[in-house]
Amino acid sequence: MSNDLDFVIRHADVVTASDRFSCDIGIRDGRVAMLGQGLPRAPRELDASGMLVLPGGVDGHCHLDQPMPDGLRMADDFFTGTRSAVCGGTTTVIPFAAQHKGQTLQAAVDDYHRRAEGRALIDYGFHLIVADPTPHVLAEELPRLIADGYTSFKVYMTYDDLKLNDREMLDVLSVARQHGALVMVHAENSDCIGWLTERLLGNGHQAPHFHAHARPAVVEREATHRAIAFAELVDVPILIVHVSGADAIEQIRWGQSRGLPILAETCPQYMYLTAADLGCGEYEGAKCVCSPPPRDPANQQAVWRALRQGVFSIVSSDHAPFSYDDPQGKKPGGKQVSFDHIPNGIPGLETRLPLLFDGVRQGRLSLHQFVELTSLRPAKLYGLYPRKGTIAVGADADIVVWDPEKRVKIGNASLHHAVDYTPYEGIEVTGWPRHCLSRGEVLVEDGKLVTTTAGRGRFLPAGKPCLD
Ligand code: URP
Ligand code: ZN
Ligand code: ZN
Repeated sequence: MSNDLDFVIRHADVVTASDRFSCDIGIRDGRVAMLGQGLPRAPRELDASGMLVLPGGVDGHCHLDQPMPDGLRMADDFFTGTRSAVCGGTTTVIPFAAQHKGQTLQAAVDDYHRRAEGRALIDYGFHLIVADPTPHVLAEELPRLIADGYTSFKVYMTYDDLKLNDREMLDVLSVARQHGALVMVHAENSDCIGWLTERLLGNGHQAPHFHAHARPAVVEREATHRAIAFAELVDVPILIVHVSGADAIEQIRWGQSRGLPILAETCPQYMYLTAADLGCGEYEGAKCVCSPPPRDPANQQAVWRALRQGVFSIVSSDHAPFSYDDPQGKKPGGKQVSFDHIPNGIPGLETRLPLLFDGVRQGRLSLHQFVELTSLRPAKLYGLYPRKGTIAVGADADIVVWDPEKRVKIGNASLHHAVDYTPYEGIEVTGWPRHCLSRGEVLVEDGKLVTTTAGRGRFLPAGKPCLD
């Protein structure tokens, strides 16, 4: 192996979750080989003066080409989703291999590999969704899959086709404890939602904004508390995903203050959207239907505050891409349907980092927290560190050269996903990626996608979760 460098990033103002230093970054064979001043010349060089140089983002919660029931279809597959991700500074994604009831986990994983292969532009891991924890799944499949590099899985406390009952939750948590995996919990009380939905529909309330009435904060708060109690009972860490506001945060703080290993994730939609974005009757509100729903400005502030205070470990997009004008998307069968039949989820892979970075600009969190929440911690929790999540000798050269002064008005026309809208249309942010490298290869240069080699992204088997 030659000692020559393939690529040097000059004058880098490197920011990791813990440090900030100026140096040149030398890259060889897709990895960071040297950090230092005045590194030898390389065939390819890039001057990063005036920019921040950050580890590529790791999006620990997104949905791509996930098989859907009832004629629905996600707009993004592994190509368009990862294209969009890298244009927003994310160089690793971790979507979900979702088990359906009656299906083995292995079948779900095999199917998902077929969907990813030959399509991904950047590296990816898989979480599992465990929807049918049969004795065979618990005793055989999960332990084997954990050993094979699928060390995190999501369980749902709502959605009829995915939800687990309390007993099943305990069974899954117990396997996670025994084999060292991390369980992600979608915490909303299914029966409360069903009861409220029935009453709303019975009173003729069908419009998209009633989605938020059917899933008030108390529904999330109760399930969050119950999940925390289960984690205490089984004595295992859990990660509560897509936390939407003050009520659930209060429960998480409570668990954390008791010394329980309760981790939490939030998403930009809970800082930038409110229930008002679901409209007051117009169907376009369907564009912002996601679960839990966005809340109100006071809850947005609670999320920002909790971020600064370290309640959250990660910020993910929960990119769940359904086009608006699509009979397989937000208008199932081409119709405007009642709120309970609108597919849940919004797109956000490309806007995750710029929206959160704007919080840095506004003094809501530090630059190091930004890197920690969007890159280091997801890499650690999902067993990809130190290969991903930092800039250090030996790490993959997944690097974002970030322009902290670039002002951008977000518009769907300039995003790279395959969804026909963004919920953030018209929002102005300062800070956008200028260049993005994945394993030393420049995929985005001067803000433009320059590589479209579908399939260059590699599957990353995950190590054990690191909670430090
Ligand atoms: O509404 C949402 N969040 N859709 C995506 C699926 C999930 O629960 O994360
Ligand atoms: Zn969820
Ligand atoms: Zn999700």
